[in-house]
Amino acid sequence: MRDYVRKRFLEKFAEDPSKYYFSPGRVNIIGEHTDYNGGLVMPFTIDKGIYAGTRRSDEMFINIFSDNYPLEGIINIPINIDNYDLEKNFGDYVRGILDELRNDNIELSHGLDIFLASNLPSGGGLSSSAALSVLILRVINDEFKLGLTQLDIVKKAKSVENNFLGVNCGVMDQFAVVFGKEKSCILLDTVSLKYDYLNLDFEDYEFVLINSNTVRKLKESKYNDRQMETQKALSILKKHYDINYLCDLNLNKLNEALAFIDNEVLKRRVKHVVSENDRVKQIKEAIERKDLDRFGEILFEAHESLKKDYEVSSELLDNLVDIAKESGALGARMVGGGFGGSVLTLVLKNDLKSFLEKFKKHYQRISDKNFIYSIVYAKDGIKEID
Ligand code: GLA
Repeated sequence: MRDYVRKRFLEKFAEDPSKYYFSPGRVNIIGEHTDYNGGLVMPFTIDKGIYAGTRRSDEMFINIFSDNYPLEGIINIPINIDNYDLEKNFGDYVRGILDELRNDNIELSHGLDIFLASNLPSGGGLSSSAALSVLILRVINDEFKLGLTQLDIVKKAKSVENNFLGVNCGVMDQFAVVFGKEKSCILLDTVSLKYDYLNLDFEDYEFVLINSNTVRKLKESKYNDRQMETQKALSILKKHYDINYLCDLNLNKLNEALAFIDNEVLKRRVKHVVSENDRVKQIKEAIERKDLDRFGEILFEAHESLKKDYEVSSELLDNLVDIAKESGALGARMVGGGFGGSVLTLVLKNDLKSFLEKFKKHYQRISDKNFIYSIVYAKDGIKEID
């Protein structure tokens, strides 16, 4: 990939890049839609992501080209200007970051040329957005020696989503991209930002990721609606409980709490969030006990909750989860924001071959598209590569 990036950079910018980076996508094992509700999440970064070649430019622009958006050509974004506006292309991530830096009175002394190539499906539920924003921040931080810490990068990348791009997401994706670690998943408390790594190096199972071939864009999806609904439910429950977030409620308080809400939709949203947060703790225990059967069961339970109570699944994602079950997976669920994207399945290594064969057969029943899957492993977070 490095050679490819070098070749393409040369074609676009007529010089060699001076640095190379890889910024991964993430899979979240459990804890979906808990991160903006003060809960726990359990993501890991994968070996698919965005590769970049970069080089100093003497123009006062960030000139950026992405292989994923060839028709956009090289986008030239001026640095140190007073106002950055959304232009509805991938350059908006750069604009948002430059806007953040300007708010902090950071001036850049020169421009940059950046080439990107990605093998991460955009809108695939694997956090292609955070991979991109964290990448650009890291490149700028290194080039201009801004001294931002890893956590600063996480927070700024999230702020770009929330304040510039208008997606009211939580911190999970940005945190994962920065802190991901080989053979581990991160157990993150999204309020304190305290985290632990759990070993994922089991010998007898695989994570198979199934691409639904349907793309969703977070802003256009109902993501922000869900965030608003949970805020509304929180404001009702705050009158009865001393809580700051929905996830401050324990599962044993759930039924009592639901009785205070007289809106059926909000009740279901709360039910998902509180039960999902509990599932993170349950999966942690199952992983520690190496209890793969229970691990898988919880994934199926999570999918049911995302489908029925949180309503962020889709018919296709539901079908894929059902097919995974029929094909012998221990567990399966949609990952990420929902409304499209990917399904994560947990499969015993010994069953992998028959699982894939059966899955393919069933899949052809419901779709004429190609069955696209990948076996994913936990890899390091963002890094500079030689
Ligand atoms: C998207 C958001 C995350 C998180 C997930 C759902 O990936 O970016 O912050 O809310 O959806 O768990």
